[in-house]
Amino acid sequence: MEKAIPPALSWLDQWLSRSWTTAPADYQWLLLQTLATAASRRAWIESWPSVADGLVIDLGCGPGIMAQEIAALKSCRVVGYDRDAVILDMAQSLNHLLDQGAAVRFRVADVLEEEGNGEANAVVSRFVTQYIPDLSRFFRQVKTHVAPGGFVAIEDVDDGYLIEYPEPPSAWKAAVGAFQRYQQGPGGDRFVGRKLAEAGVQAGLRLVGVALNPSVYAGQMEMQDVTVQFDIERIDRVVPQMIQQGLITEQAWILAKSEYRASFPHFSYVSSATMRLLFLVP
Ligand SMILES: C[S@@+](CC[C@H](N)C(=O)[O-])C[C@H]1O[C@@H](n2cnc3c(N)ncnc32)[C@H](O)[C@@H]1O
Repeated sequence: MEKAIPPALSWLDQWLSRSWTTAPADYQWLLLQTLATAASRRAWIESWPSVADGLVIDLGCGPGIMAQEIAALKSCRVVGYDRDAVILDMAQSLNHLLDQGAAVRFRVADVLEEEGNGEANAVVSRFVTQYIPDLSRFFRQVKTHVAPGGFVAIEDVDDGYLIEYPEPPSAWKAAVGAFQRYQQGPGGDRFVGRKLAEAGVQAGLRLVGVALNPSVYAGQMEMQDVTVQFDIERIDRVVPQMIQQGLITEQAWILAKSEYRASFPHFSYVSSATMRLLFLVP
């Protein structure tokens, strides 16, 4: 028999399908990715040690989606910290909508500054370490929140595990490369996934699980498909800054877009992966 989805998570899925198009631009891709990977992430959350009636802290919680999933699946309280007050407003409205009682709360805080008092059963953090310039400092702060015997669950990207076939035109690949270099500036180490195990262990955590979680698409892809439009738009938005930093020229960007668009339709195979790590706190 199929397992019943907790009502809060059915609401969450409906909210995600509706909201990703109207979310602040920086969060649209995140919501879409979050919806697409819901099943495997929830299975991962369920596989964690029990924290029933305990406390989990979600560092860099953003709109609080994973915080809601954890509260629903692990029957615990979750406090989400984020430095962005605007995204926490969105997290609060989602919290009202899902109505999981007082289970989920949020606080404006910089996770690199906020010292914990060792009261949590676990810390989780998803897609945050890519923005953290100093991973040892991050893990040191993480440890201050968790009681001995608790655990730390981290997920983040690693673009080294990205496969695309057919390969996009070279003008497009060059533009994406320039975009990745631009991202390294305001944050966004797209290869952070592979660095997490070592940084966590050096901070004194015990690594008990590492998984490469693939997200695969294979099928006919048209130029007007959402993911294609999205890939173009997310670069389009920051092209003026990229030009200013000498990372791309306007002509190169126009050529990249037109060659990329002209490469469709075709059968596409795209596989990308995130790393999921579980550490125990001695
Ligand atoms: C890509 S979003 C991920 C949000 C959420 N964890 C999720 O998976 O949906 C990254 C979040 O990390 C937050 N963030 C980055 N650095 C931070 C810091 N030093 N302190 C607090 N929040 C931070 C950002 O404000 C943003 O909401």
